[in-house]
Amino acid sequence: MAITIKDVAGRAGVSVATASRVLSGGRRVSPELADRVRESARELGYRHNAVARALRHGRTSSVGMIVPEIGNPFFPSLVEAVERTLSESGRDLLLCDAQQDPSVELRRARTLMARQVDGLIVIPVSASASRAALDEVASRLPVIQLDRFVTDYLGDWVGVDDALGISLAVEHIAALGSRSVAFVSAEPECSSAQQRLRGFTEATQRMGLLESGDRLLGEFSAGWGRAAAQKLLAGPSLPDAVVCGNDEIAVGLLGEFRRARVRVPDDVLVTGFDDIRFAALADPPLTTIRQPHEVIASECIRLLDARMDDADLPAQRIAIAPSLIARESTGSVS
Ligand code: RIB
Repeated sequence: MAITIKDVAGRAGVSVATASRVLSGGRRVSPELADRVRESARELGYRHNAVARALRHGRTSSVGMIVPEIGNPFFPSLVEAVERTLSESGRDLLLCDAQQDPSVELRRARTLMARQVDGLIVIPVSASASRAALDEVASRLPVIQLDRFVTDYLGDWVGVDDALGISLAVEHIAALGSRSVAFVSAEPECSSAQQRLRGFTEATQRMGLLESGDRLLGEFSAGWGRAAAQKLLAGPSLPDAVVCGNDEIAVGLLGEFRRARVRVPDDVLVTGFDDIRFAALADPPLTTIRQPHEVIASECIRLLDARMDDADLPAQRIAIAPSLIARESTGSVS
């Protein structure tokens, strides 16, 4: 028998009106009561009937999106593509930044649900800690994981095949004669970092490359790229190539190598991941792995619309193939 709002209210010890206010994102409910209602809904596996809610409230023609770190240039590019795709069907995008904090991510999800968005797109901050936000959203409205995903969460996901992307970079530097390689990326807290680390491990073993020193895992930032370059420069010798987990890291590393008068690509090859706008403007222009924003965005909205039409559709996971963009940082002359 279907779980109703009455069951949720009874379990939480509140009135149906209060439970409905909480689950439809209404205001004027104390955080303690709201948490009780949400916990009751989660324990009972209660799913707001999206069709009834849409009929009752009508759709708002708006979709919410939460990104982990709006300051990273990869995310605004993907947001632009999602917004363009939504506007083609006359819908608006409401954007929130999780500030790389799963607790902020959860609060932003609640804010967007309170705004009665018709669906939510989440790029999870963490492969584990973002589970709470996704569980709560999924009990109330259609949600798609974009770019990154939460481990063991069986919801819809669209993104690039991260492991394949890093494999393309490793195969590229191996084909250019590299025998030793270093990996500079983010700590494996999010799925992108986890999958790229997995791809690097598999590809270097398959290509018979020697890993030079420890894997330098910090964060997806230029600052970490600079710090990693300093660690490599302090070592006994530089590797033939450095594979970076994203372009921001690579740009920071290139700057530090330049300051140390290390020549790229003559002394060491360098690759990135994302193909942000600054990759082609780097000095030297950066070889990287392009994420096809338009294709990713189009698949994301297609999946969201399918989920809006049928809440019981089996979960779909769509991994899109990235492409290698060879530039001067690995000796390719455009
Ligand atoms: O640059 C940040 C990285 O994390 C990107 O590669 C994107 O895939 C995101 O997950």
